[in-house]
Amino acid sequence: MAIQRPKGTQDHLPDGSPKLSTDIRASAFRHVTETAQRVLERAGAQFISTPLFEEADLVKRGVGGSTDIVRKEMFTVYYFGDHGGFILRPEGTAGIVRAYLQNGLKQLPAPLKLWTHGPMFRAENVQKGRLRQFHQVDYEVLGSADALVDAEAVALMVDVVRELGLKNVWVKLGSIGDPDDREAYNAYLLDLFTPHLERLSDDSKERLTRNPMRILDSKSAEDQHLLTELKVRPMLDFLGTEAATHFGQVQGYLKAWNIDFDVDPSIVRGLDYYRRTAWELHHGGVGAKSALGGGGRYDGLAEQLGGSVVPGIGWAFGIERLLLALEAEGVSLPEPRGPLLYLAALDEENVPYAATLARKAQAGIRAEFAYRAMKPGSAFKDAERRGAVWAGLIGSEEAANGTLSLKNMQTGEQKVVETAELDDFIALSRL
Ligand code: HAM
Repeated sequence: MAIQRPKGTQDHLPDGSPKLSTDIRASAFRHVTETAQRVLERAGAQFISTPLFEEADLVKRGVGGSTDIVRKEMFTVYYFGDHGGFILRPEGTAGIVRAYLQNGLKQLPAPLKLWTHGPMFRAENVQKGRLRQFHQVDYEVLGSADALVDAEAVALMVDVVRELGLKNVWVKLGSIGDPDDREAYNAYLLDLFTPHLERLSDDSKERLTRNPMRILDSKSAEDQHLLTELKVRPMLDFLGTEAATHFGQVQGYLKAWNIDFDVDPSIVRGLDYYRRTAWELHHGGVGAKSALGGGGRYDGLAEQLGGSVVPGIGWAFGIERLLLALEAEGVSLPEPRGPLLYLAALDEENVPYAATLARKAQAGIRAEFAYRAMKPGSAFKDAERRGAVWAGLIGSEEAANGTLSLKNMQTGEQKVVETAELDDFIALSRL
C-alpha cells in the first residue's frame, strides 16, 4: 500500500479536492488566519514566529511537569548522534515568551501585543477535533498586568469568532488566583482526596502528589464521579483579595463592552503557567468537552523560564476546531476563485504568444494559459473547470491583427478586444 500520512495529521488541500471530508481546504484555513490577522492587527498586534522545535526544558518548565502535555504528549525530536533534548512544540506561548526574553523585546513599548499562527504537536488519542498535529491562532500580550489588558484579550478572541461569522459561542470565564491562593486550594484538595486515594485513577494518584488541581481536569470517568460525589469547592472560593479585585475589574470591563460571558468557578485549564484570569471559548458544534480556544494570564512564566518578571496574558484557538464550528453553523466561506482571464491558442505556433500575453496580464490580475493548442470547445470547457471569468482564444487571425476573442464564462457575452488592452490591470478590469 502507498505510504499514508501519520495518524492524527491532516493534509491541507487545494479547492475541489475529492477527499475534503477528512482533510482541510487550504483556502478555508487561510480565511481563518487572514480574519484573525485583520482583527488582531487592527488592535495593534504584530506578527511573530518561533521555531517548531525547542529545548524540552522550555516546555517542561513553561507548561509544567504535572500536565498531561508534558507527561504523555510530547514528541521528542531525534537526529543522528543526538540525545533527543528537543521537542516539537505543543503550544506557542512558552516559545514566544522565550523569544521575548532572548531578543530583548522588553525594550519595545509595553504592553507588546504579538500574534502568530502555526502547527502544534501533541501525541493525543486521536478523535474528532483532537489531532496530533493541529494549528493554532495565538495572541499574546507582554508587559502589563492591568485588568484592562485581560478584558481586551477576551474581547479580541470574541471579535475573531464574530468576524468569522460564528454565533453559537460562549465564554467561560474564571480565575485561578495568585500562587498563594493556589497553594491554599491545593492543600484543601490534598486533604479532601487523601482519604479516597484508592478510588482515584492511577494518573490522579500521581497528580495528587504533584499538583492536586490537575485532578479537576482529569478525563477519567471514575475521577469525575468522585469529584461530583465529594462536592469539591471551586478555585474561585479561594481567591485572595488582590486576585478577586482583579477578576472583578475584568468582568466590569467586559460588561461595559457588551461581551457576554459566564463565570465558571471550576475552570482549570490544562497548562500550569496560568494565574488569575483564565477562560475558554466553547461552541455547540465542537462538543461540550472540547473548547474552541482558551487562554489566561501567566505573570510568572518569564521568571520560570529564567528571565525577569514580565506579566503576560494570551489565548489560542484551534484552527481545525474553528473550521468544525463554521461547518456546524453552516457559515459559508469565501468561494474558490478562478482566474479572471484564461487564454488558449488554437494552433501550436501561437501557444507561446498566448503564454506571453497571459504572463503580461499576471502583473495585474490572475491569468492562466493553456500549454498546448486547443479546439474552441475544449478550451472553453477547460476555462470553465478552472472557474475562469473570461476565456480568450487566439488563432492566427487574432495573432496577426493583435486582437483577442473573449467569452465571459458566466454571462456568455462575447467580445473582441485589442491585445494592447491587456497591458495593465485597469484595461482588464474594464473587460
Ligand atoms: P490550550 O487550551 O492547550 O491552550 O489550547 C488552545 C486550543 O488549541 C484548544 O482550545 C483547542 O482548540 C486547540 N487544541 C489543543 N489541543 C488540540 C488537539 N490535540 N487537536 C486539535 N486542537 C487542539 C494553549 O495552547 C495555550 N498556549 C493558550 C494560551 C496562549 N494561553 C496563553 N496564551
